[in-house]
Amino acid sequence: MDYHSEFRRSIAQPTDFWREQAEQIEWIEPPKTIWTPTDNGHGQWFPDGVLNSSYVALDANILAGRGDQTALIYDSPVTSTKRAYTYQELTDAVALFAGALTARGISKGDRVIIYMPMIPEAVIAMLGCARIGAIHSVVFGGFASHELAVRIDDAKPKALITASCGIEINRVIEYKPLVDKAIEQADHKPDSCIVYQRPQANAELHPGRDFDWNESVAAATPADPVPVKSTDPLYILYTSGTTGKPKGVVRDNGGHAVALTYSMKLVYDANPGDVYWAASDVGWVVGHSYIVYGPLFAGCTTILYEGKPVKTPDAGAFWRVVQDHGVNLLFTAPTAFRAVRKEDPEADHLSRYDVSSLKRIFLAGERLDPPTYDWLNEHTNLPILDHWWQTETGWAICCNPVGIEMMKTKPGSATVPSPGFNVQVVGMNGRQMPAGEQGQIAVKLPLPPGCLLTVWGDDARFQKSYLEPIPGYYSSGDGGFIDDDGYVFIMGRTDDVINVAGHRLSTGEMEEVVASHPAIAECCVVGAHDDLKGQVPVGLVLIKDGATIDHDELEDELVEMVREKIGAIACFRRAIVVDRLPKTRSGKILRRVIRQIADGERYTVPSTIDDPAILDEISEHFRG
Ligand code: COA
Ligand code: AMP
Repeated sequence: MDYHSEFRRSIAQPTDFWREQAEQIEWIEPPKTIWTPTDNGHGQWFPDGVLNSSYVALDANILAGRGDQTALIYDSPVTSTKRAYTYQELTDAVALFAGALTARGISKGDRVIIYMPMIPEAVIAMLGCARIGAIHSVVFGGFASHELAVRIDDAKPKALITASCGIEINRVIEYKPLVDKAIEQADHKPDSCIVYQRPQANAELHPGRDFDWNESVAAATPADPVPVKSTDPLYILYTSGTTGKPKGVVRDNGGHAVALTYSMKLVYDANPGDVYWAASDVGWVVGHSYIVYGPLFAGCTTILYEGKPVKTPDAGAFWRVVQDHGVNLLFTAPTAFRAVRKEDPEADHLSRYDVSSLKRIFLAGERLDPPTYDWLNEHTNLPILDHWWQTETGWAICCNPVGIEMMKTKPGSATVPSPGFNVQVVGMNGRQMPAGEQGQIAVKLPLPPGCLLTVWGDDARFQKSYLEPIPGYYSSGDGGFIDDDGYVFIMGRTDDVINVAGHRLSTGEMEEVVASHPAIAECCVVGAHDDLKGQVPVGLVLIKDGATIDHDELEDELVEMVREKIGAIACFRRAIVVDRLPKTRSGKILRRVIRQIADGERYTVPSTIDDPAILDEISEHFRG
């Protein structure tokens, strides 16, 4: 089968197409119905199928004879640790932890928040929840207490699982005080908190609420996989939207297992026994899909890396991991290789290692800039494959479908739509744009399996954010175009979401924090170009009449507030005091123009602008 025939079939006969894909996974009760429409046109995949995602990821591999194969390798340069688990060992550990959760009264449908660093216990916790049908919600360890509290109040978890600390470059970050503060701030209080004590920090446990991981596991009996409906939620993963409140993307069990299994072949051409490494974090969707679930569904060995591309200890870290574990497929964000290239422009470190096991390098999470693509291509001589996806879709909307047919790559393009995604470019009037012309990238409904079911607790927000903007389509929030050959080019977000080092953040959320400073009358935060991180946020602030504060002092306070409320990961380091903000006559801040000025790009003075002279003032500020 070539790509074009497979793609056409997936769109013309989606039910037959996905029925065949569904046969590739182990169901408890295989679905008889493949897709049913719902009132909103979104539909549901495999509604009468019954399965257990931890069974598909673990037990099914043991039954297939892979019990002694390595399932997970933990490689942690920050603690000088390496540890491997076979499929049998990982299954036993997950079953036991699932038993510990059951002992804490957690059962099917309960939510469990996981706030953990990149240690095997994070994976065990996720799969342990899946085993008993509990819904996990992993919160990235770089988020501050306030962000954790917001997620606690939204997901209303019965339990929270954490570790005593995370380890950044030369710095131990104690997690427990952050968790305690978050629980204190939140209105909802979890019944229990299970804490994994790491040697680098000892967490204080609150009697009656907090339980030691090791003690809980020692007292537990292994739990069997609990059958769940295909459409039951497997997890909630919060992602930034345009407002201060993050959106809880809800993923189902059945569609997710089918889609990820298909994607492992289609996108990565991964086979059982391959060593697959997604250098990301379990707190992001890449970590969910391609550190935990996808590689295990496909019978691969997955790598959990607790370190950075540079400084742990040097820019050869990625090549060292490839050599040590015989990595075949590597997936990371372009920013990681920008960091490597900055420190090792001639790729001297690469020649110190044997990376002959490596077949392909995959990049996603942000635009793959041509210099990074060229550098990787030149130095590794491997296929460098860009693919485009989002937390909402859980797998690639566009990719180079190497599992079917390796297509020619075009710099700047994420290649072609994955089978199942009917990608279109739509103009302001809702009509399809001709080839080569830019518009909003949208996917004609229905979306394929694996994509979000809804926004947790707020289906109206799901409708409003994704389905209402372009009736009949899923609205991606990204802009771009499709060329004459059907290649898709993603040009960036059309909303107030920015991408900092492959991390998706909301400028709206940062504005809320900045605006809460007592001296600030008005503000706006835009994403400005950054050579390393792709984008970094920059604030423009107006001081209240009568407020007297030194500008440097104000900047320091605002930077600290964003770190405290959102987290260091926001990389908010610059706040410029201005006399006024450029606005339309109706009072809307012209964020796009401000961003263009920040990046030194040419811009057109909008006809709706209130006072064009402000733009020169803003330029002065950026140049200064
Ligand atoms: N817990 C606590 N703090 C964290 C954290 C975590 N899990 N992850 C990052 N931080 C902190 C960092 O310590 C840093 O704090 P600082 O401002 O006090 O130095 C801040 O958040 C910013 O972190 P980061 O974006 O990692 O910047 P960096 O300068 O330390 O490293 C890169 C730059 C490019 C090496 C790094 O961003 C990277 O590895 N990116 C890969 C991105 C990625 O995997 N994306 C996932 C999508 S595929
Ligand atoms: P996230 O939900 O955190 O994975 O972020 C998704 C967003 O990252 C998308 O909406 C895009 O804006 C951006 N993105 C992801 N992959 C790519 C890519 N390959 N090229 C360009 N932008 C990308």
